[in-house]
Amino acid sequence: MDDMFDLAGRVVVVTGGLGQLGRRFSADLLARGARVAIIDQTECHDRTLGKLVTADADGRLLTLVADITSRASLEQALTTIVAQWGAPHGLVNNAALDSPPDAPASENGPFEDYPEASFDRIVDVNLKGTFLCCQVFGGAMAREGRGSIVNVGSIYGVVAPDQNLYEYRRQDGATFFKPVAYSAAKSGVYNLTRYLAAYWGKQQVRVNTVTFAGVFNNQDPRFLEKYLPKVPLGRMADPADYSGAIIFLMSDASRYMTGSNMVIDGGFTSI
Ligand SMILES: NC(=O)c1ccc[n+]([C@@H]2O[C@H](COP(=O)([O-])OP(=O)(O)OC[C@H]3O[C@@H](n4cnc5c(N)ncnc54)[C@H](O)[C@@H]3O)[C@@H](O)[C@H]2O)c1
Repeated sequence: MDDMFDLAGRVVVVTGGLGQLGRRFSADLLARGARVAIIDQTECHDRTLGKLVTADADGRLLTLVADITSRASLEQALTTIVAQWGAPHGLVNNAALDSPPDAPASENGPFEDYPEASFDRIVDVNLKGTFLCCQVFGGAMAREGRGSIVNVGSIYGVVAPDQNLYEYRRQDGATFFKPVAYSAAKSGVYNLTRYLAAYWGKQQVRVNTVTFAGVFNNQDPRFLEKYLPKVPLGRMADPADYSGAIIFLMSDASRYMTGSNMVIDGGFTSI
């Protein structure tokens, strides 16, 4: 059974691979034998990634600086990957911008005043960037007649943010509301996934979404006090909680699965 999850020889592109979740996914994909091409806008090998990835993973790790909102930049990255390893077998569309609970209040005013430029920036990265990565890397997979794409969604692309969770920011004097752009952009990812699952089915490129809930990142205790009762499993996620889904969807274990949404949220959206 374990062979079904084996990723030896697979080339997997992980966007945002130097972020909190991306570096965990990259390390865990490497551990299953994959060759991992990280796409991020941050240059240099992040120290934390260095700790997760031992001994340069036998040359199975590439870190490429690219902007997912630029098709030209992504095509350049694809050229490098193909030259090194050949066409990718997998793509984890993980890069995104969010407004965490401690984001500056100027970005998080009332809906009526939410800046148009902020809306454009978030949609540009979270939705258009995902679309462009699918075009460039997914297109290369379709030409090969195989592949797996995982688009990273969010509970906030499925249900609305509960603004009560951010009450502590308002108590502290900030005019803070979890903004609309992240939710709007993430919800678009679900039908981009279904569209492509249907479009690329004959080429055997599978496309699925994963829905993640909040990851523990030293949030304010007043946030946790309100958030945790909304999670049946009673805790925020650890990045490693999501790796199993990524490995599964990248591997043959999920070979008959496309157009689906895997919800890994501690039960958040079930109550
Ligand atoms: N952390 C959470 O609580 C949580 C919850 C639900 C869903 N998610 C989703 O999980 C994914 C990863 O989140 P994270 O918490 O690791 O975020 P993060 O901010 O730690 O990492 C995101 C990475 O994306 C990169 N990135 C941003 N814009 C880019 C661009 N234009 N081009 C290339 N790279 C770019 C950043 O440099 C960063 O390394 C995101 O899609 C996020 O929406 C996260």
